[in-house]
Amino acid sequence: MHVYIVFAHPSRRSFTGDVLAEFCLGLRDGGHSYEIGDLFEMDFRADMSLDEYNREMNVYGNRPDLPVPPDVQAEHAKIEKADGLVFIFPNWWSDGPAKLKGWFDRVCVCGYTYVYEDEEYPMSGLEIDRALVLCTAGNTREHLEETGIAESMQRIYLNDRLRPEIGVTQADMVVLGGGESMRQKNLAQAYQLGKEF
Ligand SMILES: Cc1cc2nc3c(=O)[nH]c(=O)nc-3n(C[C@H](O)[C@H](O)[C@H](O)COP(=O)(O)O)c2cc1C
Repeated sequence: MHVYIVFAHPSRRSFTGDVLAEFCLGLRDGGHSYEIGDLFEMDFRADMSLDEYNREMNVYGNRPDLPVPPDVQAEHAKIEKADGLVFIFPNWWSDGPAKLKGWFDRVCVCGYTYVYEDEEYPMSGLEIDRALVLCTAGNTREHLEETGIAESMQRIYLNDRLRPEIGVTQADMVVLGGGESMRQKNLAQAYQLGKEF
């Protein structure tokens, strides 16, 4: 498989950066190819512009015929080359970093990941065989499960952002939590998830 990895963390010298490195090693050993889209390195803009908003939700009706910005087109091109889509990011206040939320707001545009009936669209839709969400966390997975936070994040990613209707055949989410005491176990899991992708 060819995998596009969306990485959302300001530093590669972090636990999340180490998870990315191990996952990529695993992918390589599993015979997969990959490309990394580092949202902080590329300074990906999180906020929608007024033009982008109007394309999706104009008061006069959505306008999917309007062009999408070049940086979003570049993301679409990377996704189109891929069979797999992976998100690696830290849990920040029970969500991902703002740039990652912005990636979904701006990249998952009308005509690409959702359509309105009886309308024609100028772009081909998203087609991904497998998606994986890898979220690092300071709290343990058990704590995030007991508090319902793991479930709420899972519902948002798997039942909405990466649901089958947007063009993702299968999606899973794994929380790599627990801090230093779980570090080696989590990195081994990240490697394995890459290898068995
Ligand atoms: C702004 C911020 C908010 C955070 N919020 C949470 C949180 O809500 N839940 C949690 O389990 N960990 C939280 N953490 C901890 C990180 O998820 C944790 O340290 C993670 O393993 C990332 O480590 P890294 O920055 O070394 O990659 C937060 C960290 C930061 C910087």
